[in-house]
Amino acid sequence: MNDRNVHDARGTHDHEKKAAALSAVSLVRDGMILGIGTGSTAAYAISELGRLVASGMEVLCIPTSYQSEILAVQNGVPLTTLLAHPEIDIALDGADQIDSNLVAIKGGGAAHTREKVIASAASELVLMVGSEKVVSTLDHAVPIEVLPYAVTHIEREVRALGGRPELRMATQKDGPVVTDNGNFVIDADFGVIDDPRRIHDEINAIAGAIENGIFLNVGEVHIGTADGVRVMRREGGAGCL
Ligand code: A5P
Repeated sequence: MNDRNVHDARGTHDHEKKAAALSAVSLVRDGMILGIGTGSTAAYAISELGRLVASGMEVLCIPTSYQSEILAVQNGVPLTTLLAHPEIDIALDGADQIDSNLVAIKGGGAAHTREKVIASAASELVLMVGSEKVVSTLDHAVPIEVLPYAVTHIEREVRALGGRPELRMATQKDGPVVTDNGNFVIDADFGVIDDPRRIHDEINAIAGAIENGIFLNVGEVHIGTADGVRVMRREGGAGCL
């Protein structure tokens, strides 16, 4: 899927995204440290957290991007840092695609590296998606944050792994997308992904590849549908794939 299609998909099913976000935020309890993801679904969660904070709930949130940091400030959601709070109770985030094994592909907003750090530091990664994101087998292009110096090397290595790499270009800036960490993003199309763990490990073994968008540690996903919210939970808890 190219960048244009990624962003078309991200603009649809807003009511389902909002319902999923409200359902996931209902897991939040007083005193929690939260990771807050990036994207249009995370934005609904941040807005709901702002409402809860205004009504007296005490939480501290760690953003995964400038987008979520700005939205949190605008919504009166108190922020902290991973430096101050390295143990996170729940990471709340969106996804671009998720399969029935609760493996997700993220990074349509180029924020997946920080999102993965926060997901890894959290006791529980809870994703929020509209029903169009749920598939039986993953086939979304895998975003890879890359060191700009290494971009052509990584494109060659992705081809050697059987993928089709495409450097993600900016839409309101000339040239490539530059992440919040100052790096580029390659979208690597592997077609149908039968073994996401293998692709995950092989990409991250490439020198200069900083992080890829395959998430293996999803604990729970809240899916907004036309008939309400469906919750899927990993057997045995988070990180047991
Ligand atoms: C950010 O880089 C992504 O991982 C987002 O979480 C993902 O693209 C989902 O975005 P939407 O909630 O806007 O669909």
